[in-house]
Amino acid sequence: MKGVILAGGLGTRLRPLTKVTNKHLLPIYNKPMIYYPLETLVQAGLKEILIVSGPEHAGHFLHLLGSGKEWGVKLSYELQDEPGGIAQALGLAEDFADNKPVVAILGDNIYEDNLSGSIKNFATEPIGAHVFLKEVINPSRFGVACVKSDRIIEIIEKPQKSPSNWVVTGCYLYDTQVFSIIKKLKPSSRGELEITDVNNYYIKAGTMKFSKLTGYWTDAGTFESLLRANQLAARKNGFLVED
Ligand code: TTP
Repeated sequence: MKGVILAGGLGTRLRPLTKVTNKHLLPIYNKPMIYYPLETLVQAGLKEILIVSGPEHAGHFLHLLGSGKEWGVKLSYELQDEPGGIAQALGLAEDFADNKPVVAILGDNIYEDNLSGSIKNFATEPIGAHVFLKEVINPSRFGVACVKSDRIIEIIEKPQKSPSNWVVTGCYLYDTQVFSIIKKLKPSSRGELEITDVNNYYIKAGTMKFSKLTGYWTDAGTFESLLRANQLAARKNGFLVED
């Protein structure tokens, strides 16, 4: 398996914090945000990892993470010229993937769970896709999974009325088909190639699997979730945050 960290996008919801820097370089407690998804992939045993970022701060990622030697991995870098969506960013990893299955993780997602069991399982028989679901209180900001008798039957993006509280988190395991699926996608109403459309394609094909997270999970793309990510990481490090 190869790993891809998607760190493009504009981070507009975090302005002015993202006016002169990139969201994924902002601090989460004692580390830059991108360290968290990187460490999730490193923990899962991935050795080759691609960082996809926008052109404005690409040099900063290189400066910060370098060759990957510090983590015992080989890092590569790719530019996403315009933020055309998560699926578009992943499409840029086709050459890097070199016909191998991939783990894609969003650069602003913080996982407490160790994902290595599921990732290693998938690697032994890399067919279809696998996502990680988390039960949350406010699902309507995410892709929400309709689960029936242990199968996801559909993922609905940002629904007004949520079919469940289980949301699709930002780490996705895909077989080698994913790049041909991305090429068939049409931009959504917000003009992006949507990762939910990729996932729904696998659901329709009957090859989507999932596991449920038990530890904390959050993105860090809004002021509230950025604060929460900081508090969770601080607590995890034994630093008590007052509620
Ligand atoms: P989002 O939070 O949906 O988008 P964003 O980071 O541009 O933020 P905002 O909506 O506030 O402007 O993206 C989730 C993750 O996906 C983010 O950490 C980076 C990645 N991403 C890309 O790599 N390329 C893209 O084109 C987009 C939209 C997101």
